[in-house]
Amino acid sequence: MKNIAVILAGGIGSRLGYSKPKQFIKVAGKMIIEHTVEIFQKYNEIDEIAIVCHKDYIDTVESIVISNHFNKVKKILNGGSERHESSLAAIDAYDEECNLIFHDAVRPLVSNMIIGDTVKALSQYNAIDVVVPATDTIIQTDGELITDIPNRDVLRRGQTPQGFKRSIIKKAYDIALKDDHFKATDDCGIVKTYLPNEPIFLVRGEESNMKLTYEEDLFLLDKFFQLKSMEIVDNDKQALHLLDGKTIVVFGGSYGIGREIVKIAKQYNAKVYSFSRSETKTDISDIENVNKALQIVVEECGNIDYIINTAGVLDKEPLLNMNYETIEKAVSINYMGNIIIAKESFDYLKKSKGKLLFFTSSSYTRGRAMYSTYSSLKAATVNFVQAIASEWGNFGIQINCINPERTLTPMRVKSFGKEDPKTLLSAKEVAISSLKTLLMDISGQVIDVKKGAE
Ligand code: CTP
Repeated sequence: MKNIAVILAGGIGSRLGYSKPKQFIKVAGKMIIEHTVEIFQKYNEIDEIAIVCHKDYIDTVESIVISNHFNKVKKILNGGSERHESSLAAIDAYDEECNLIFHDAVRPLVSNMIIGDTVKALSQYNAIDVVVPATDTIIQTDGELITDIPNRDVLRRGQTPQGFKRSIIKKAYDIALKDDHFKATDDCGIVKTYLPNEPIFLVRGEESNMKLTYEEDLFLLDKFFQLKSMEIVDNDKQALHLLDGKTIVVFGGSYGIGREIVKIAKQYNAKVYSFSRSETKTDISDIENVNKALQIVVEECGNIDYIINTAGVLDKEPLLNMNYETIEKAVSINYMGNIIIAKESFDYLKKSKGKLLFFTSSSYTRGRAMYSTYSSLKAATVNFVQAIASEWGNFGIQINCINPERTLTPMRVKSFGKEDPKTLLSAKEVAISSLKTLLMDISGQVIDVKKGAE
């Protein structure tokens, strides 16, 4: 039996209130719908994909399918103004018996496990829902007063996918559409109401399989993508072999994390060029210096695949003790340095569809006493990475940011003195995670590197 994923993307996202429907917003470097379709495209047991969308977005969806090589997508269908009408458009697009697996385009973190369990359950049942436990108490009300408080143990929250034998969901809709009192609900609701004897099997969902509905969900989604990227970075032991033959430029490669990156990348046969103030007199706050460094590499290699900036200064002092010269130096190295490297790299990275990697610090989420310039400039780095990832995504350039926990580097020793090395990450651990991040298909992400992850 063919397994057909139906991606429901016909909504307009009125509750989020953006100028375009929420499935076309970018998170983690790609549109939400691109993430969602990619999961089904890559899942072996899914044979075909149909996307249902609003007629005004058919062209957009077509170009998404083409540019991502989503070759399982065989139909792009015009949806309806209600969700059930969009489901119906897919049901009517197929004649033969098959498994139709409906999934909200705006749940871009559905796992292989959920899809696999849904497909498997369809060999035994005709209707499947994906649910998670109800964690809050659910109240029944008449609008003003509580009428009942159902036992939470028997309540679940519905997610998608919802899977059906085509004949079953078709039959349920046929009856529903003849009902004058038909009230729109989700597809399982239609089966439950109109085919009450049909068992609907439950597959366990996951909290991360969340639906983008409100503005605040975007922050959560971003965090979930970050966690997912980190899992991939930690688990992929083979990835570094892909560095073979790549041209890598490292600014700040003379010591600490930068030096380890240079060393490891060379071990994996990358062509690595290191620039620093001590080795090559390269100051990243100087446009000419950065430009010259990149030109040297391009003259020798013809192209640049990856550009990494690990250079930075750390001033651990109360603001009132810092003179303006120190502050300006921090701004020009920790902030302007990234901007100059990004701008000067653009043409080369556009040509190679290459990647940029910057470094932030765990202090970026909250300013810390004694680090006012350092932590605020690291926050700016994250913000800059997110903005440029979005601006340059269409050029095929990806840009991410590494957020290492406390790491044993000469810069740290200078500010903190001797610390128990067991409590610190090694520069090598951070270097490995950084290089693996370069090999991933992500953009605009902050990758946390934590002790014990390797
Ligand atoms: N959907 C659809 N056709 C519709 C309405 C919704 O295909 N007429 C899809 C949405 O694109 C989304 C999923 O169903 O992927 C879940 O719906 P919901 O979160 O309600 O999305 P919207 O209807 O877009 O949002 P809102 O209710 O805020 O307008």
